[in-house]
Amino acid sequence: MTFPYARPRRLRRTPALRRLVAETRLHPADFILPVFVREGLSEPEPINSMPGVVQHTEKSLLSAAKDAADLGLGGIMLFGILAERDAEGSAGLDPEGILNRSIRAVKDTVGEQLPVMADLCLDEFTDHGHCGVLDATGSVDNDRTLELYAQMGVVQAAAGADVVAPSGMMDGQVGVIRDALDEAGHQEVPILAYAAKYASAFYGPFREAVDSQLTGDRRQYQMDAPNRTEARREVELDLAEGADMVMVKPASAYLDILSDVAEISDVPVSAYQVSGEYAMIEAAAAQGWVDRRAIVLESLTAIRRAGAGNILTYYAAEAARWLHD
Ligand code: PBG
Repeated sequence: MTFPYARPRRLRRTPALRRLVAETRLHPADFILPVFVREGLSEPEPINSMPGVVQHTEKSLLSAAKDAADLGLGGIMLFGILAERDAEGSAGLDPEGILNRSIRAVKDTVGEQLPVMADLCLDEFTDHGHCGVLDATGSVDNDRTLELYAQMGVVQAAAGADVVAPSGMMDGQVGVIRDALDEAGHQEVPILAYAAKYASAFYGPFREAVDSQLTGDRRQYQMDAPNRTEARREVELDLAEGADMVMVKPASAYLDILSDVAEISDVPVSAYQVSGEYAMIEAAAAQGWVDRRAIVLESLTAIRRAGAGNILTYYAAEAARWLHD
């Protein structure tokens, strides 16, 4: 017998052999495209810190949704940007508010072909930019915010959202939204819970994307980067409250969390490759320092390998196109 006896390289010899033994595959249906729609815009507006991503007009949003449907994406996640905000984020609860009327318009365009998902949070609607309403001390008031989330979920479901996605990290948010949906006759609308969402510098470009007026940070409600065990607890609570899917966010710097969550979750697991992850790849690729397409596909593969069943990514449409080629 010659040494070495075991030769793992045998299965790496050709692209076809490597494809045969690949443990992880990417498919367009794994991707959810996050999109921004801004009220009162006449032309799509580029987002500086996210080259290639725009704030959509209500009209251009519909072509993006049609494209996403034609590409066979797993879903589209809508974020609304307002002309006028207030302290209570009232436009989020207004059936005629930008997000809710966009849900209806997108739903009319794509029908059953593409799940339409709605960000269920107040930060795009409040003038202070926090994910909830503030108490007298300026902290986010958890329980008063829950009441608004419950109403917001019902309004989004009534507008036609196929999935609502609470992203505010208020304690108890999944439970109150579930109860409110059920009571309003929307038993069939699933909740995609941002279960382990960390306070992260990787959200930097998103703040520009939604013209956020936030001063300060979200560290009193989003999770703290050093904590891993706590993510299990957050996920278990959301599952107990009735989450139909659970998300980890951000993705690339939190693959350990993703792997833990995939292990304990008996519902589908999502991961969000966030704005800063996108911006970093774009910046390095623009310099010619990394191979853009290769690094995008590798990062998406790594997120799937760590345990995500589906991925929210600004690369959704482009990556789907590459996979179709
Ligand atoms: C909150 C929300 C945020 C993102 C998605 N939903 C911002 C935040 O929590 O600060 C960030 C997404 C990204 O950075 O791509 N509604």
